[in-house]
Amino acid sequence: MTGTINVGLVGLGTVGGQVAERLLTWGPQLSRRAGVELCLQRVLVRDPKKRRAIEIAPELLTSEPADLLEDPAIDVLVEVAGGDEPMRSYLERAINAGKHVITANKMVMAKHGPELLDLAAARNVDVYFEAAVGGGIPLISTFRTDLQANRIERVSAVINGTTNYVLGRMAVAGLSLGEAVGEAQAAGYAEADPTDDIGGFDAAYKLAILGSIAYEIKVRPDEIYREGIEGIEPVDFRYARELGYAIKLIAHTQRHPGRVEARVHPAMVPLDHPLARVEGAENAVFVEGDLVGQVLLVGQGAGGRPTASAVVGDLIDLARSIRRGVQSRPSFSFDDRITVVPMGEVVTRAYYRIRVDDRTGVLAAIGHVFAEEGVSISSLIQKDAWSQDQTAELVVTTHPAPDASLQRARERMAALEPVRAVSAFLRVF
Ligand code: HSE
Repeated sequence: MTGTINVGLVGLGTVGGQVAERLLTWGPQLSRRAGVELCLQRVLVRDPKKRRAIEIAPELLTSEPADLLEDPAIDVLVEVAGGDEPMRSYLERAINAGKHVITANKMVMAKHGPELLDLAAARNVDVYFEAAVGGGIPLISTFRTDLQANRIERVSAVINGTTNYVLGRMAVAGLSLGEAVGEAQAAGYAEADPTDDIGGFDAAYKLAILGSIAYEIKVRPDEIYREGIEGIEPVDFRYARELGYAIKLIAHTQRHPGRVEARVHPAMVPLDHPLARVEGAENAVFVEGDLVGQVLLVGQGAGGRPTASAVVGDLIDLARSIRRGVQSRPSFSFDDRITVVPMGEVVTRAYYRIRVDDRTGVLAAIGHVFAEEGVSISSLIQKDAWSQDQTAELVVTTHPAPDASLQRARERMAALEPVRAVSAFLRVF
């Protein structure tokens, strides 16, 4: 074996601690696979004096970014700290200084990935980001190498573990959203402020990265239609089961001529679809390519050890390329002409739960709205009227229709005099 590759690590938290430990305790095995020695040279932390679970030589720690970014001895910057700035700038500085970059930062890669990849190509270095989406599940390398002979037709994913855990607990234990989020926080899945996960923001960042890589286009997070799981109530899980569905937060992208769909929202997923069976905090990504057909990738989408697996795997791959003096992975060329389909034009099926006054003509009025919007009803359930307040609950599923028509039907029904509320609206996948 010849040579050493020096690594600067940014962040020594849940993921960084595991990355450092792997590098420090598994050196010979990693070096044998990489063909060079991988040396952890410096670690950037906020507070070098803080007590840590991992045993690490104090002289490796620094709170000064320049100690990594401006040290010519460091070949590779590994960033696992997260958040937008200053991390985007650190990555940019490292690339400009001729360093290769490995990052687990989904926010930076979702918002600025194409620009960083372009800059890296111009500087003849590489950006690896397997850990930015789906933790330990090999997704980026799958698209970037194994599926590159394909035209990717669609990618559908359960890509947020927190919401999948929460929805699972609502479905199985009948918990309210608040109770299930409390459980997820106690189990260490949900953050103290769960907005990023519950609101679908985290999934939208991940879909932006997956869509960009799958189609080699620039999918920006703010172009992705996004809805979180806030409106779902325990009763919706009972109706879903009765109708043969599970409720999941789905991130979906699909190719159309000259355009792609890209959307994140809760959806009713048929029970025989593989995504309906993703349990707990696991993630799953269902890919369809024109040559390969359907592929399902499942695993732990977060956590220190699975994410470190992706980071250190990238490092070994990169080290091999550096040793051989080649860029073993294809670079990207993003097609700027492909745009995202506005949600209103997306054709989908829908589920409505509607509370109505239990009186003559209500069904006719609702049927009239659907007919006028060109939406065909697929199924209709009405449970016995509630004698206390003379209301009834109607559940309607539709055949496929443009989302704008489904939304107009929802608004027009809510405005009907005998309709108390359209209490739930979900797309059917
Ligand atoms: N909060 C994310 C999730 C993990 O629940 O899946 C980090 O991307």
